[in-house]
Amino acid sequence: MTEPVLKVDKLRKEFGGLVAVKDVSFTVERGEFVGLIGPNGCGKSTTFNCISGLLEQTSGSIEMFGNDISDLRPDQIQNLGMTRTFQHTNLWRQMTVIENLMVPPRRQFGSSIKELARSLLMPSNQAEEDRLSRAYDVLDQLEVPHMAHNLTSELSGGQSKLVDIGRSMMGDPSLLLLDEPVAGVAGPLAMKIFNNLRNIVDETGISVLIIEHNMDFILRQGVDRIVVMNEGEVLMQGTPEEVRANKEVIEAYLGAAGDPSEGEE
Ligand SMILES: Nc1ncnc2c1ncn2[C@@H]1O[C@H](COP(=O)(O)OP(=O)(O)O)[C@@H](O)[C@H]1O
Ligand SMILES: [Mg+2]
Repeated sequence: MTEPVLKVDKLRKEFGGLVAVKDVSFTVERGEFVGLIGPNGCGKSTTFNCISGLLEQTSGSIEMFGNDISDLRPDQIQNLGMTRTFQHTNLWRQMTVIENLMVPPRRQFGSSIKELARSLLMPSNQAEEDRLSRAYDVLDQLEVPHMAHNLTSELSGGQSKLVDIGRSMMGDPSLLLLDEPVAGVAGPLAMKIFNNLRNIVDETGISVLIIEHNMDFILRQGVDRIVVMNEGEVLMQGTPEEVRANKEVIEAYLGAAGDPSEGEE
């Protein structure tokens, strides 16, 4: 058996007296599309923040391809092939879509300002041209090549989420962590985003771990497996069919989750 891309083992994160993540364990395998779901406040984003190195865990360990990454910085983790998006997208609003893709995602670039300046100011060279062609490929994969030269300030909320996903794909990651990429996105576009991700996983063999708070929605989106969290703990893991049939999950959820189709696009 090959090593899992991601192995989270008894991960725990306390904020003072509050235990936000309680000894959570799960894996993501190569080429797997996994949903991380649970009601608001159950610890999903905190789990992502620990995995991506933004928060130091209280205890437990995180491995990527069998290497312990528990104590690495976000940029070191990114260099190993993991990128992530944040629950609240933050694009460069005065720049076009393609320009946004050319800038490394926020808080994930190594030598920060220097690298940023280089990516924006350096005259065209091979690396720059490669990056540009990669950016167009990413827009093709997300089926939005026509948006390349739009200002991101002109995009809808859903389109902005797509650009954010595109940005996270720029470095050819092996593992993408996406934090609620369809929250507040209208139903049809939300489904298209999941469809695109499914195709990208199938075509490129990368792994995707995606947070979504709406269970009804994610059960219908073709993910391989779902990790269900509740009050900081993993309640169960299984295929969408197994999750749907689990009474405990349904109970934890009753009245707790909203519907993404109710949000603005
Ligand atoms: N930086 C922080 N400091 C203190 N409490 C936090 C912090 N981040 C999250 N929390 C708390 O941890 C719990 C889990 O939050 P979060 O991981 O954001 O939930 P989710 O993403 O599942 O909605 C919540 O009670 C939240 O208020
Ligand atoms: Mg969250």
